[in-house]
Amino acid sequence: MGDTVTTGVGKTTQGADVLASAVGAVRTWGGTEVADDPHALGVAAVALEIAEQLHVELSLRFAVAAGALLHDIGKALLDQEILSKPGPLDDDEREHVQTHPEAGAAALPTTIPSCIRAVVRSHHERWDGRGYPDGIGSTAIPLEARIVAVADAFQAMLEDRPYRDARTRRDAVDEVLRSAGTQFDPACVRAFAQLPRTASLRS
Ligand SMILES: [Fe+2]
Repeated sequence: MGDTVTTGVGKTTQGADVLASAVGAVRTWGGTEVADDPHALGVAAVALEIAEQLHVELSLRFAVAAGALLHDIGKALLDQEILSKPGPLDDDEREHVQTHPEAGAAALPTTIPSCIRAVVRSHHERWDGRGYPDGIGSTAIPLEARIVAVADAFQAMLEDRPYRDARTRRDAVDEVLRSAGTQFDPACVRAFAQLPRTASLRS
């Protein structure tokens, strides 16, 4: 997976190793359930590939992977009936669901690094400032959260939900590309578009 980077101690670390160490760390923090969740693992794998494509430093790659695994941990604190409702949500229900980034970040152990907490809190922020919970935009959103936002949206589109079917891979790629500069950081989308898993699907 991805390119190989040299760490400060002369060893080499690849994306698969970063993901494995993030899974291990999340388990030790008590997040075994999310470390085994197929959506979280899928988001982490795509997010890590984007981070590698952007050539971000190794510590940030780890934050991206661990943050991606933990991003929706706040959903465990929501009313599960609303979360699994097989239809559109009303305003109150949507507002309730939108508390999960803030609730998740607040629920993390205090020992978790702030860059990982930032992914949990800010993965639904948008580049144009119209996201939540803080309505911050552009580079005010931590890079690790901007990366995970792209991976989360892409992965979610490939999965069935109670209220809609999965979209095709090609459709999902197109939707991400269309959302550059509005929902997503254009640089993260450019990196996403270069990945082997998506480059051949671009229309
Ligand atoms: Fe989320």
